[in-house]
Amino acid sequence: MTPHIEAEKGSIAKTVIMPGDPLRAKFIAENYLTDYKLVNSVREMFAYTGKYKGKEITVMASGMGMPSIGIYSYELFTEYDVDNIIRVGTAGAYTDELNLFDLVLARDAYSESSFETTQSGIDEDVLASNEELNQVILNTAKDLNKKVVYGRIHSSDVFYKENNNFKELYDKYHCLAVEMESFALFHIANRCHKKAACLLTISDSLVTHAETTSEQRQNSLYEMIELALESAIRL
Ligand code: HPA
Repeated sequence: MTPHIEAEKGSIAKTVIMPGDPLRAKFIAENYLTDYKLVNSVREMFAYTGKYKGKEITVMASGMGMPSIGIYSYELFTEYDVDNIIRVGTAGAYTDELNLFDLVLARDAYSESSFETTQSGIDEDVLASNEELNQVILNTAKDLNKKVVYGRIHSSDVFYKENNNFKELYDKYHCLAVEMESFALFHIANRCHKKAACLLTISDSLVTHAETTSEQRQNSLYEMIELALESAIRL
């Protein structure tokens, strides 16, 4: 047990699929896993371990924002011997070249956050995800005929910004879309010598102001969940 996870040692798989929302973790377990068991409900940050096509997988929620995913990913990597975390989330598009429901795989994440400096004293603006994991996901996408945009994303600490400078972040840093967790996840994975990747579905656009309904979001997530699970069984 850790301060935030009550699961017994050995009850979490080597690969964890990590949505932000605990109810989405429940949805994935109920719809995709067999023989699944609830292994964590501290703070209702649900984790389920079960089987996907015979391979043991855990799906656990991260909560929203870098401090939250920073806690759970650290405890999973250091206390539960997890090797791979694949985040599955939603993002807002910074370019009109991305449409609602498009899939993005984060090659790296830019952030103005000081998470990495606070955590370990290093100072970086851009942190990479794991290349080996990304190649497995890209190859799986190709085999399944799914289109994935591979590029840089922005991990923001703030959802409600007074002056959203997304055009500058797109022009200067080539950030294609915004979410709120990956920079911390990639940092923790790198420090722990483990692997992390992040798959995102575009749920809204900062450019066109298009938005998805919660029902559409739920349905569009099937594509991403399937890609994450099919990649996980190849690891
Ligand atoms: N901003 C930050 N995070 C997000 C967004 C957004 O517009 N959409 C989905 N996650």
